[in-house]
Amino acid sequence: MGEVALGIAHEVNTPLGIIAQEVELLRVLFDAERRAGRSIPAEADESLAQILGQVQRCGEITHSMLSLAGGRPPIPQKADVADIVEGMVGLVEREAQKRGIALVRRYPACGSFGVATDPPMLRQVVLNLLENAMLAVERGGSITVCVVAEEPGFWTLRVRDSGCGIAQEHIGRVFNPFFTTRPPGQGTGLGLAICASIVHRLGGSITVGSTPGTGTEVSVCLPADVEA
Ligand SMILES: Nc1ncnc2c1ncn2[C@@H]1O[C@H](COP(=O)(O)OP(=O)(O)O)[C@@H](O)[C@H]1O
Ligand SMILES: [Mg+2]
Repeated sequence: MGEVALGIAHEVNTPLGIIAQEVELLRVLFDAERRAGRSIPAEADESLAQILGQVQRCGEITHSMLSLAGGRPPIPQKADVADIVEGMVGLVEREAQKRGIALVRRYPACGSFGVATDPPMLRQVVLNLLENAMLAVERGGSITVCVVAEEPGFWTLRVRDSGCGIAQEHIGRVFNPFFTTRPPGQGTGLGLAICASIVHRLGGSITVGSTPGTGTEVSVCLPADVEA
């Protein structure tokens, strides 16, 4: 994503912030009117809530675009891969339980897999992959998260799901910014683009394999010692 998109995302944030503030102001004014005994239709509140919801969504999109386009270089720190991965798996666990999805952990115990990496960047990658897997899988399905050290100096994260899979004609496009097959309003198409951008900045590689109707596996190979 280029400079122009970055500039637009940045510029759009300011009016979005103002719209959100104005909505808040209208709410205060409506409350005052009601306290003064004048009637404001309930639809007006619903309309404000809609506006705020959509403004928030725009904010999420510009935020994603900024983290994609203006992504900072990594700041390597000593960290434990298992800790980081477990932290993100923990975030989706409750939702998975509720939806009858098995979360299978295939990684070493916390505290036993030390690397030098950029923890916030790595968390973002793990979370984006888990989010996609959660959307692909139905009740009774499973998501398996593996961490393995197969090559010297590198380690691999695999997020595998038994979900809907990716159609052959789509698989080459999933890393493109804004490519999404989700219904309007539900996906930005930036999740995997951000993953790829981060993984490349960390000096690693990311690949996706999928069989429609069977499931998907995303593999991320990262250096054990990320360079700044
Ligand atoms: N685990 C998965 N299973 C099936 N399809 C997936 C999976 N991960 C990604 N995809 C496909 O790749 C597209 C792009 O994913 P992503 O970049 O995260 O954007 P978004 O989730 O907003 O659509 C998704 O819309 C979906 O079609
Ligand atoms: Mg996504």
